[in-house]
Amino acid sequence: MKKTILCVLAVCMIGFINCNAQKMKSAAKVEPLTRIIDQSLAFSVKQYKLMSEVMLPKTDSLPRTIDKAGHLTTSDSRWWCSGFYPGCLWYLYEGTKDPMIKKYAKVMTARVEREKFTTSNHDVGFMINCSFGNGLRITNEKSYNEVLLTAAKSLSTRFNPKVGLIQSWGANAKWKYPVIIDNMMNLELLMNAFKLSHDSSFYKIAVSHADKTMKNHYRSDYSCYHVVSYNPETGEPMIKQTHQGAFDESAWARGQAWGLYGYTMMYRETKLDRYLQQAKHIAEFLLNHPNLPVDKIPYWDFNAPGIPDAKRDASAGALMASALIELSQYVDQPLAKKYLAVAETEIRSLSSPAYRAPLGGNGNFIIKHNVGSMPHNSEVDVPLTYADYYYLEAMLRYKNLKKH
Ligand code: GLY
Repeated sequence: MKKTILCVLAVCMIGFINCNAQKMKSAAKVEPLTRIIDQSLAFSVKQYKLMSEVMLPKTDSLPRTIDKAGHLTTSDSRWWCSGFYPGCLWYLYEGTKDPMIKKYAKVMTARVEREKFTTSNHDVGFMINCSFGNGLRITNEKSYNEVLLTAAKSLSTRFNPKVGLIQSWGANAKWKYPVIIDNMMNLELLMNAFKLSHDSSFYKIAVSHADKTMKNHYRSDYSCYHVVSYNPETGEPMIKQTHQGAFDESAWARGQAWGLYGYTMMYRETKLDRYLQQAKHIAEFLLNHPNLPVDKIPYWDFNAPGIPDAKRDASAGALMASALIELSQYVDQPLAKKYLAVAETEIRSLSSPAYRAPLGGNGNFIIKHNVGSMPHNSEVDVPLTYADYYYLEAMLRYKNLKKH
């Protein structure tokens, strides 16, 4: 009897030791995320120096993506993404203080300046806030103030008080007053302009836009439409559709991420609880979605045909990571931990060879496998500047967290 007990005890002990050894072995294999981020920032500086050497002689051009042969394609400042590349350079400068990167950031930011007068679409927010906004925040360069304020005034011209929203695109045969979820991102320019000028009209426009978007873009499960077009006379929504999603009722991945980021940012800027609640609801929709893959990088649409073989949109993953890190700062445990865990997985995934380019590859962009617009077969499975931008932002936000 005694012998049997001893035997059982011995087997248990061996099991316990084996199990712990196994645990220690797998723990030893997991590289700390902060180390991965430092390595990735160092890599990104090298990659963007290569990009900048190519871009420097191309006056008035900004990088856009690569073509089918893998060659760099560029745009002028009019393309909605023109501010992201200078913004990436500012983030890299913020993260590393590399003087050469600062020089490039200033030159590339200047290439976007004329967009401060853009009144033909809402993208002036992306263009100017990501470039000049970051430049101002990081260097306090006083001449950038005027650019931000002029751009915010340009954006404000697209606000119709009868509708209570900024009109994203011009009217067309389908849509009289189209507002897209992406527009939430442009409110950050208005909030920055409000802080610079104390002109409350910027604040009021941003709050009105965020409130009405919350009311009309969102479904009961907190997924959102891409486009809502309004009647400009009555301010009532007329039609709810998609432009870049799989179908009108689908959850286009980047659109969901724009919303998550937009309401988190609006909570930061206003401290209005309804925006925090909205961001939390959107996060729940995304994090609990059965089609969110294990590596947490979404398919281009949560309802894309062909899942699990559908294309991923790494830009949506980068945006989500950045937004979730910020949102984790505004909620209590265990929610904060839940948001951070997903963001951490996203940064790890994006930093792996599955998504991050080799040095000198991918047209000198950082992140691979993004989708611009699947329904238009435009920029499918390619690098895009906004994926790089939100990836860098997410890494810096993570580094700046007080506790990991
Ligand atoms: N229109 C901005 C985007 O493609 O997300």
